[in-house]
Amino acid sequence: MTSEMSALSTTRSAPASVTGLPVMRSWERIGRVLLLMAGISGLVTGILGGLTRLPVLLPGGMMRANWVELHGPLMVCGFLGTLIGIERSVGLGIRWTWGAPLLGAVAGVSLAAGIGGSWPQWLLVVASAWFVLVSWKVDSIQPGLSNVVMALGAVAWMVGNIRWAAGGAVPAIAPWWMAFLVLTILGERIQLTRYRKPSRWARPMLLAALAPVGAGLACGFIDHADARRAGGLMFGAGLVGLAGWLMSFDIARVTIKHPGLPRFMAVCLLGGYGWLFAGGALFAWNWPCQGYHYDMCLHAVFVGFVFSMIFGHAPVIFPAVLGLPVRFTPWSYLPVGLTHVFLLTRIVGDLLSIPSARAWGGAGNAVAVIVFMAITVSAVIRGTMNLTTIGRAKPRSTQP
Ligand code: HEM
Repeated sequence: MTSEMSALSTTRSAPASVTGLPVMRSWERIGRVLLLMAGISGLVTGILGGLTRLPVLLPGGMMRANWVELHGPLMVCGFLGTLIGIERSVGLGIRWTWGAPLLGAVAGVSLAAGIGGSWPQWLLVVASAWFVLVSWKVDSIQPGLSNVVMALGAVAWMVGNIRWAAGGAVPAIAPWWMAFLVLTILGERIQLTRYRKPSRWARPMLLAALAPVGAGLACGFIDHADARRAGGLMFGAGLVGLAGWLMSFDIARVTIKHPGLPRFMAVCLLGGYGWLFAGGALFAWNWPCQGYHYDMCLHAVFVGFVFSMIFGHAPVIFPAVLGLPVRFTPWSYLPVGLTHVFLLTRIVGDLLSIPSARAWGGAGNAVAVIVFMAITVSAVIRGTMNLTTIGRAKPRSTQP
């Protein structure tokens, strides 16, 4: 379990209190909460926009044209870019690194508010370039393959953002944003493989899976239909290879045998790897594509893989970021199960062109996120109340 706990503390960790939680000043916590809220505003507006695109009809006040149009950027850059930036800065404990999530949050909120014309897009370029510097700093403190992979993820985000700000279409950029998320998560998981018995196959197999991902992305620069098709094939094959690698070498295969939180995290991770495998196979089969097939290629990875990772890491991320405990409850399995069931429904709807299955599945994915947020907030409240009770009980127990 301790190994899972250290998953996100990339290099240095903040001083811990007797409860094991990082000690932080109240202004520091307020700042982090504000940044987190800004990121979550990207999630909320992005989901509302995504629902409208399904289409699921929402009351007028819950829908704005730019949330619909910018659903993808709000999710990837406004929400996840900010969240990942926060998590990396928490791990590093170096003040200047907070510039990346701060700029990402400002850009995300501006996109959602529909202000500033194209400057939020350029702000995202600056945020991601800053994040590349942060990743380079991490690698200089603690050199290793895992940090190089995470840095490559940061570079993929920056390239995607530059192309988007320069007028590129989202479908051409989506694989770059996907590589950002996949490589970031992969790098964090590679770090933890040191707790498993080393295998001489692990490194060559990882490089063999990473190479086609890079080659597939590079093909996107060639403006020819055959190159785009070859790019989709290689990118997808690379994702399949990475999923296979994670299933084989991740410590989740060991921690699933331990009850409670370690098993919950392992279930999330292994389920997510299954979706990465499926998403890669769909990409290899028919990327570039449009309409329903476009929806299925993207969301197998963005919802199935990425959200499984968020659900699994939330009990570790929240205590590290906010210095507040999250009390694990078996109810945490609910959003995970909902996500799998509804994503499967959505993808079957996409594959067989059944609009109602796609709409119900997509709406179910949004409900799963809401359930997850409700469970997380209640777990933080219960964890904090538990701490307060322990805090009150302790002095009494020391009395004669
Ligand atoms: C949770 C509920 C979600 C719903 C209901 C939803 C819905 C949709 C829909 C209907 C589309 C249009 C697909 C098409 O053109 O046929 C779309 C596109 C997209 N989605 Fe989602 N989505 C969700 C989650 C996510 C997540 C978590 C991410 C990223 C982490 C994401 C990223 C994208 C991207 C990048 C596009 C392409 C946008 C474009 O081409 O402009 N979505 N989504």
